[in-house]
Amino acid sequence: MTGIGRLRSLRGRVLLAAATVLLAVSGGAAGATGAALPPLPRASIDVARVNALVHAMTLDEEIAMLTGSPGAGVPDPTPNGATGFVPGVPRLGIPAIRFTDGPAGVRNPLTPTTALPAPVSMAASFSTELARRYGVVLGRDARAVGQDVLFGPMVNLVRVPQAGRNFETLGEDPLLQSDLVTAETRGVQSQGVIATIKHLAENNQETNRMNVDVEVDDRTLHEMELPAFQAAIDAGAGAVMCAYPLVNGLHACSNGALLTDILREQWGFTGWVLSDYGAARNVASGDVTSGQTTPGQAAAFQLQAGLDEEFASNNFATVRADVVNRLIPRSIVDGAVRHILSTMDRFGLLDGASPSGAPVVSRPRPPIDVDADAGVARTVAEAGAVLLKDEGGVLPLSGASLRSLAVIGPTSRQLLVGGGGSARVAGFTAREISPLAALRSEASGAGIDFAVGDDLDGVPVTRGALTPPGGAAGAGLLRTDVATGATTVDPQVDFTGSAALPAGSRTTWTGTLTVPTSGAYDLKVQGAGGAASLTVRAPDGTVVASGSTGGFAGGSLIPTIDGLTNSNSSAQLTAGVAYGVVITGNAGALTPLQIRFAWVTPEVRQANIDQAAAAARRARTAVVFAYDEGTEGRDRASLSLPGSQDALIEAVAAANPHTVVVLDTGDPVLMPWVDRVAAVLEMWYPGQEGGAATADVLLGRADPGGRLPVTFPASEADTQVAGSAERYPGVPLAGAPAGQTVEQYSEGILVGYRWYDHQGITPLFPFGAGLSYTRFSYSSLRARTEDGGLEVSFRVRNSGWRTGSEVPQVYVGAPSSAPVPMADRALGGFARVTLRPGETAEVTLHVDSRVLSYWSVDRQAWVIASGTSVVQVGASSRDLRLSTTVAVG
Ligand code: BGC
Repeated sequence: MTGIGRLRSLRGRVLLAAATVLLAVSGGAAGATGAALPPLPRASIDVARVNALVHAMTLDEEIAMLTGSPGAGVPDPTPNGATGFVPGVPRLGIPAIRFTDGPAGVRNPLTPTTALPAPVSMAASFSTELARRYGVVLGRDARAVGQDVLFGPMVNLVRVPQAGRNFETLGEDPLLQSDLVTAETRGVQSQGVIATIKHLAENNQETNRMNVDVEVDDRTLHEMELPAFQAAIDAGAGAVMCAYPLVNGLHACSNGALLTDILREQWGFTGWVLSDYGAARNVASGDVTSGQTTPGQAAAFQLQAGLDEEFASNNFATVRADVVNRLIPRSIVDGAVRHILSTMDRFGLLDGASPSGAPVVSRPRPPIDVDADAGVARTVAEAGAVLLKDEGGVLPLSGASLRSLAVIGPTSRQLLVGGGGSARVAGFTAREISPLAALRSEASGAGIDFAVGDDLDGVPVTRGALTPPGGAAGAGLLRTDVATGATTVDPQVDFTGSAALPAGSRTTWTGTLTVPTSGAYDLKVQGAGGAASLTVRAPDGTVVASGSTGGFAGGSLIPTIDGLTNSNSSAQLTAGVAYGVVITGNAGALTPLQIRFAWVTPEVRQANIDQAAAAARRARTAVVFAYDEGTEGRDRASLSLPGSQDALIEAVAAANPHTVVVLDTGDPVLMPWVDRVAAVLEMWYPGQEGGAATADVLLGRADPGGRLPVTFPASEADTQVAGSAERYPGVPLAGAPAGQTVEQYSEGILVGYRWYDHQGITPLFPFGAGLSYTRFSYSSLRARTEDGGLEVSFRVRNSGWRTGSEVPQVYVGAPSSAPVPMADRALGGFARVTLRPGETAEVTLHVDSRVLSYWSVDRQAWVIASGTSVVQVGASSRDLRLSTTVAVG
C-alpha cells in the first residue's frame, strides 16, 4: 500500500499506521528547514567588503541609497514596472535595486505575472508546504520580471473583522501566521529575492491608517501582533517595512521602541528597514517626533530610531547639510547604508562590487514558469477552500444535480481574482475563466442555467432620464471637450469599443438625472484606457452618489463583462427631482478611453432577483455566488454582504431547498440566510486559476481542504471591537494634532477565537472550522512535556468513503498557575493529512514552549507558566474530540 498521508506542518510528523512510512520529521520553534535551500540567501555576510564599500561611497551616494523613488529619490532610468527604485553606485559595481508589491503575486503593470489566491486562502490551507510553494512563486516571478525585493508577506494580525486588507494577511492566530510566514519567507528568498515583512506594526485597519495612534500594552503587542514578524526574521527575512499608524504615540517609522529595541535588540535583525509609502513622516506633515523642528532633525531622529530607507517621502535628503555641518554624525547614515549593503551581499547582489571600482554585474533572470506557477495557484485555491456547511450531501455536485443546475450571481460569470489596492495583480488574463465557464467545460453534458441575480454591469442610463443644462428634458447630457471647449449633446454616455474617445482627450458631461420612480438606484461609471469619474448631487448640493475608476480603492474588483473597470454607487433617489450629474473622462496619453454611465433601477434589481429565483425553482440544485470587496484604502462598512446579495440568497433559498452558496470574500461575512441554505463554500479571492479551482471543489475533483484562519461571527455585535469606538475605529484625542485619532487595544490578547472563548459567545463558524467530503475520527491522544514544550500524538482515521484532507489541531489551555490571564485555549500545533478511506495517520506534533508562555513585561522576556494544562485535539477550535491534561512549567 502506498502512503498518501502528507505532513503539512513544520512542527510535526505524520505516520501512516497502515503504511508505516515516516513522511517527515519534526522541526524547531520557528519551523525546520523544508526542502534543501538553494545557495541564496547566504548564512553569512562579507563584512569586510561591505565596510570597504561604505567607506568608498560619497555622502551623496549614501543618501541616494536611503531615498527610494517614488518620492525624492532618483527616478528609475530603465523602468520595468517596479513599485519602487533605489539607485546603485555603478562606479563601485553596486547594482540598483527594484522593489515590487506584493503579497498575492508580483504586481507589475508592464509584464504579466501569476495572480495567486489571496494570502487568506493560503492561510486557510493550514499548510506550511503550500506556504513555501506560494513563496517560491512570488520569488520566482519577481526575479523573472527584474525585481530584487518583494514587499511582502504581510502579517498584521486580523483584529478588525471588517478591515480592508484582511485578505492580504494570514489570519487571527499568531502561531498559524508564524508557521506560514516562516515557510513563505523561505520560499520567496530561495529564489534570491529579498522578502519584506510588513507592516511593522499594528497596521490592522484602513480607517485613518496614516494617523491612528494605537495604544497597545507591551504584553499584547508581543503576544499577538509581533510573533509572526519575529518568526519571519528568524527565517531570515532580509527587510522589514515599517507601518503607517502611530504605535504608543510615535509613528511606526519614527519608533525606536519598535525598530531598534524590539527588532534589532530583542530579535537580532540584521537586514534593513524601509518605510511604507509616505510613512516616514516629516515635520511639515505634522509628525509627532520628540520635538524635532527642522526636516533634517526629523530625518536624523528617524534614522536613529532605526529607519534605513524611505519611500514616497522627502526626508532623508535633508540630513545632508546637517552631516556636512557636523550637527549629525555621518555614522548614522553609514549605519543605514551598511544594513542595506549587508543584505544585498547575503543575496549575492554585491558579488561583482568592489571598493576599488567595478562594473555592475547583472544577475540571471530565469523566465516565469507560467504553467508550474498556475499549478500552485490552483492547488492553493483548492486547499484553501473551506466547506462550512453541507447538509444532505448536496455537495459535491453529481448526477441529478448536474443535469439540472441553476448558477446564479455575478462572480459566477466574472472571476473575482483578488482583493484591491497594492496587492492587486491582474494575472495571466488569457488563462482566467469564470467558475460558470469552468463548470460548463468540466461537467460536460450538465444542464446549467445561468441567472445574474445581482447585475453589476447594468445598462447605459436611458436618454429620457437625462437633461443637458438649459436643454430639453430627456435630451441627454452635455459633452464638453476640455481642450477645445467644443460641446455637443449625447443621448447616453456609452463610448465603448470602436466608439472610444481618442488618446489624450479630456471630456466632461454635465446635466441632470431625473428618475421615473423613487427608490434605490445603482449608478455606475465604467471605464478603461484612462480615468473616469462620476458625481451626482441633490439640488441642495449634497453628493448622493460618486465613483471613480482610478486609484487604489477606485472601481470594483469585478470588471464588467466587456472588461471595463466598474465603479458603483448606490443612491436613494426621489422621482421628479433633478439631480446634478458631472462625469469626467480622461483618456490615457497613448490609450483611447472607453466610458459608460450605467444604472440598475429598483425595478430591474427586483426583476433580476425574481429571474434568479425562477431559475432556482426550475432546477434541482441552485448554486449562488456572493462576494465582498476587500481593498486597501478603506474598511468595509459592515460585515454584511454588499448590495442586495442577502435578499438574492434568501429568494433563491426560498425557491430551492438545495441551495449552495459560494463565497468569494476576503474575510468574515454575516449569513442571515445560513439556516435556509444547504451548503456554504468559502473560496476567498481565489486567484487567476480560481474558476477551475471552484469547479474542481464543487464537482468533488478536489476535496475542500481549507479551514478558517479567522472566526466568522454570528452578529456584528459579537466581535472584540464592536460597541466601542475607542477599540475601533478610534476617537479624536484632545490636544492631538488635527486628524489624529487614538485607538485602544483594550481587548488585550483576546483577539479572534480567544475573545469568543473568553466571552462564551458561539460564533457562526469558529476558527479552524471546515468540512471535508469525507469524515475523520480521532483517537489515542498522548501528551508529554518535551524541550519546555509538549509532544502531542494522536491518531486520525478517515472513516468515510472518499479520499480527503483533514487539519487536526492541537489547542493548549492556560496553565493552572499562570500569574497572568492567558487564553482559555490557544492553537499549539496543526497538521494536514490526506487519507484514503479506512486509512489512519499517527500524528505527532511538537507544541513550542511559547504556547505555554506569556510575555513578562517586567523581565522583557517570555516566561513559561506552570501548573496543569488541558491539551485538546480536534477539527476546529470548537470541535474538540480528545482531551488530556499535562503538568507544565
Ligand atoms: C501599502 C504597502 C505597499 C506600498 C507600495 C502602500 O500603500 O501600504 O503595503 O507595499 O503601498 O505599493
